[in-house]
Amino acid sequence: MNNPILTAIDERRTTNLFDPSYALDDAQISELVRLATKAPTSFNLQNWRFIAVRSPERKAELRAVAWDQVKITDSAVTFIVVGQMADHRTLADRLAPLVAAGIMPAPMVGGWEGAAASLYDDQPWRQRDEAVRSAIFGATTLIYAAQAMGLGSAPMIGFDPEAVARHFELAETEIPVLLLSVGRPTSENWPQKPRRPLVQVLDFA
Ligand SMILES: Cc1cc2nc3c(=O)[nH]c(=O)nc-3n(C[C@H](O)[C@H](O)[C@H](O)COP(=O)(O)O)c2cc1C
Repeated sequence: MNNPILTAIDERRTTNLFDPSYALDDAQISELVRLATKAPTSFNLQNWRFIAVRSPERKAELRAVAWDQVKITDSAVTFIVVGQMADHRTLADRLAPLVAAGIMPAPMVGGWEGAAASLYDDQPWRQRDEAVRSAIFGATTLIYAAQAMGLGSAPMIGFDPEAVARHFELAETEIPVLLLSVGRPTSENWPQKPRRPLVQVLDFA
């Protein structure tokens, strides 16, 4: 396989052990998030937020509500990947740069707003599904961006969502979907885990 993207997908693994002496500066963290936001979202809603927990105090605070996972204090940064409940009223703002760039004709905006309203209005479970979907697309993209920079990453769902929301002041309409630690892996990490055979997971129709 000589395509770097395919190789990255083929070789990715979760980092469990991070070098605690390795730090990332704010510019590197910003670049990771900039790349993460290139992930697709429904209607280009971009209904996400990334909280980069990188100070020793805030890392300790997060670790205390995340099953005491050592990765949170050993890694350079742990992102709280926040999904925002889908809301068609945010669309005009999100689509404005597209209209300004001459890519999207202005009259189209109302059509997209109407479609988004019909999907999400008064449908809290769909609003929430979209928050989770968007956050996971963003997190996944961040994982591969980190890998391309020679960094390891660890997705985590082992945390108390109410406590994370409280400690990091999430809005009522925001969900802490995933924690994602990023940093330099140590040499003792497990090799990649085997996957189920394709015959069990692929159906042709
Ligand atoms: C949604 C999600 C939640 C996870 N939560 C945790 C976690 O809280 N703690 C942990 O050590 N690993 C966690 N993992 C890592 C998985 O155990 C790991 O991805 C899986 O064993 C496959 O290994 P691989 O990523 O190296 O291929 C999580 C992974 C995902 C995708």
